[in-house]
Amino acid sequence: MRIARTGVELRETLQAERISGRTIGFVPTMGALHEGHLSLVRLARAKDEAVVVSVFVNPLQFGQAEDLEAYPRDPERDFELLEGEGTDVAFLPSVDEMYPAGDCTTISVGRPLGRVLEGHDRPGHFDGVCTVVAKLFNLVEPDHAFFGQKDAQQVAVIRRMVHDLKFPIDVVVGPTVRDPDGLALSSRNCFLSPEDRTKALALSRALNAGAAELSAGGAVEVVEKVMWDLLAAGEGVEPSYARVVDRHSFEVPEGDTGMVLVVAARVGGVRLIDNVEVKS
Ligand code: PAF
Repeated sequence: MRIARTGVELRETLQAERISGRTIGFVPTMGALHEGHLSLVRLARAKDEAVVVSVFVNPLQFGQAEDLEAYPRDPERDFELLEGEGTDVAFLPSVDEMYPAGDCTTISVGRPLGRVLEGHDRPGHFDGVCTVVAKLFNLVEPDHAFFGQKDAQQVAVIRRMVHDLKFPIDVVVGPTVRDPDGLALSSRNCFLSPEDRTKALALSRALNAGAAELSAGGAVEVVEKVMWDLLAAGEGVEPSYARVVDRHSFEVPEGDTGMVLVVAARVGGVRLIDNVEVKS
């Protein structure tokens, strides 16, 4: 596995791939890798001839009250995992490399997609995500970029940015990876105590109950109430939202296709999100 720490190194490293016409698959990450990330690397491996993974904890997508400093970091383990998956190039830029002093251009994600739910609870979050992903896309110039369904709204925001800013990149979405008891994998799960981890199962329980209600013909408001009530009943669970939305716009769904059930809650001070897509 080759390592690039600057944009110049990355371009030099990828030049040979481009000259020989190999397709490039790109998996952007913030490190603290888990099976969810690795499943995306495997998807990229199956589709593309060269796989690039970036590991960069992006300060721009953290709010002032959020956990940037505490965000889990384990570069040596990440390195071993990426090498084990046959990654071709790991891109590990510094903050100065991605945001040189004086850098002042950012991307603003429009309403409502960028400002509801996660965008509402974490102001500026999606602007930060899109700014760094656009920079990474420009540096890597991938054919395919891989994101996890676990961050459903991020997927919708990135797809919209790719469309609106005309990146010639195909966005591929990998399924949410879960522990056997249903907890969606997240780098933040490491902050959960064993007791809080058990309490966090309320999120997947709420989604399962919501999906069952929907398939039994329940109205959107009823489904949302079922999910909210289950979250609110969970000891130590502070729900933030429980909604049924259109999977592209994140607005109230019209018709019964392409919906996603989304929930967010704090458990033991850790903010968790989860979702299930409902296709009919
Ligand atoms: O999903 C993430 O880990 C991050 O939001 C991303 C896409 C790597 C951008 O920093």
